[in-house]
Amino acid sequence: MRQLAPDVRLRKMVLADLPAVMAIEHQAFSNPWSTEMVRKELTQDWSTVLVVEESSPAGWQLRAFAIFWLVADEIHVLNVATDGAVRRRGFGRQVMEAVLATGKTQKCRLATLEVRRSNEAALALYNSLGFRAVGMRPSYYQDNREDAVIMILDL
Ligand SMILES: CC(C)(COP(=O)(O)OP(=O)(O)OC[C@H]1O[C@@H](n2cnc3c(N)ncnc32)[C@H](O)[C@@H]1OP(=O)(O)O)[C@@H](O)C(=O)NCCC(=O)NCCS
Repeated sequence: MRQLAPDVRLRKMVLADLPAVMAIEHQAFSNPWSTEMVRKELTQDWSTVLVVEESSPAGWQLRAFAIFWLVADEIHVLNVATDGAVRRRGFGRQVMEAVLATGKTQKCRLATLEVRRSNEAALALYNSLGFRAVGMRPSYYQDNREDAVIMILDL
C-alpha cells in the first residue's frame, strides 16, 4: 500500500460519519443503500467500513468509503464510493488498497466483488488493483436488470 499524503487519513467509520457517508452514497448510486443498511454494517462483527478523509481549512472532510465483509478467508467488497466533487484524485484507490491490505493482514486468500457491467470507472479501478473478471450474474441489478461482473483478486 502506498504512503498516504500528510493531509489524508484512513480510519474505520463511526456513527457520527453516517450523514457524510449517506451524502456520498446518494450522490454515487441510482439505487442507494438506506441509512439503516449502512448503520447496521457498523454493528456486524464481520463487516468493516473504512473512510478516507482529507484535511481542509474547514477540518477533516470525508472523501470516500468502502464497506466490506471478512468471512472465513475471503474479503467481499459490498460498497465503494468517492465524493463526486473529488473523483479521480486517488481516494477510491486509497480506500480499496486499505481494504486489500486488511485482507492480507487477516491472512485472507481472496477478495471478491460485483460491479455493473457499464461501470467503466469502477471496472478500471478494480482492474488496476489486479482484480480479474471471472463471471457474470445476468440481470443482477433490480433497478435496470443490468448484468453484474464478478471479479476476484488472489491476495
Ligand atoms: C469508482 C469510484 C469509487 C472511483 O473513485 P475515484 O476516487 O474517482 O478513483 P481514483 O481517483 O482512486 O482512481 C483510481 C483509478 O481508477 C480508474 N478510474 C477512476 N475513475 C475513472 C473514470 N471515470 N474513467 C476511467 N477510469 C477511471 C483509473 O484507472 C484511476 O487511476 P488514474 O486516475 O491513475 O488513471 C468513483 O468513480 C465512484 O464513486 N463512482 C460511483 C460509485 C460506484 O460506482 N462505486 C463502485 C460500485 S462497484
